[in-house]
Amino acid sequence: MRKLNALYFSATATTRKCVTAVASAMNIPLTSSINIADINHPPIPDYSKDDAVIVAVPVYGGRIPSLAADILRQIEGDGAKAIAIVVYGNRDYDDALLELTDILKAQKFQVIAAAAFIGQHSIFPKVAASRPDKSDMKKLTEFGKICSQLLDTEIRGELKIKGNRPYKKYGGVPVHPEGSQVKCISCGTCVELCPVAAINPKQPWTTDPTVCISCGRCISVCRQSARNYKGIKYNIIGTIFTAAFSKRKEPELIYPSKT
Ligand SMILES: Cc1cc2nc3c(=O)[nH]c(=O)nc-3n(C[C@H](O)[C@H](O)[C@H](O)COP(=O)(O)O)c2cc1C
Repeated sequence: MRKLNALYFSATATTRKCVTAVASAMNIPLTSSINIADINHPPIPDYSKDDAVIVAVPVYGGRIPSLAADILRQIEGDGAKAIAIVVYGNRDYDDALLELTDILKAQKFQVIAAAAFIGQHSIFPKVAASRPDKSDMKKLTEFGKICSQLLDTEIRGELKIKGNRPYKKYGGVPVHPEGSQVKCISCGTCVELCPVAAINPKQPWTTDPTVCISCGRCISVCRQSARNYKGIKYNIIGTIFTAAFSKRKEPELIYPSKT
């Protein structure tokens, strides 16, 4: 039997939720499941043609997080089948799915299906609030079931993925989470879980804005609610962004074209 693996980057758990739903619909127990947002994640296995790998990343600025891209460029597919997923916050996924499938193909994976799902926006959480929701879960299940069938099918057709090369330039995010010295109890959780070590262990209520990737993980893991986006700049951008990108988008499921 084919082995099913999950390899994903998830800072605030929406990508993880999507991966879990797809894997469970595929009805094959996971041999490995690795969140590459964890600095100390276990070693990524050597995949082979008997493996299937769900590879999922969030969209950052229309691209995949550069940290995730760097890690994916170091692994070898060796003929393993890959299911490529991006999760985005209802603005757009731009070139991210194209970038992800390009990397997977270059690393010798056979990409058998791809999808773009919508998850609550981790910087502006009023956008796509509580997504993936019930309707998204149905799509995730449908996608998983079809992927499971595709594992046993000889695939000849191409996946038609939207996007451009060269990819959109990543512009960065001008806001970063800040901590409250009053609420912070220096438990160290955010320090340990920040994917880029942007939080000083001696002053965990601070953030190094030159290192921080604004992934929002420190906010989501803080049990004291001591970290958040704050300030006039954040509020102004948030109001404009929320007004512009709240119109609901739907998941896109992409399968090989019939040749
Ligand atoms: C730095 C950053 C950039 C983002 N850029 C985009 C984007 O270009 N388009 C979009 O629709 N959502 C964007 N988002 C929202 C995330 O893609 C979305 O919230 C995703 O569900 C986060 O996944 P996670 O919970 O697994 O970390 C961005 C989020 C962050 C933190």
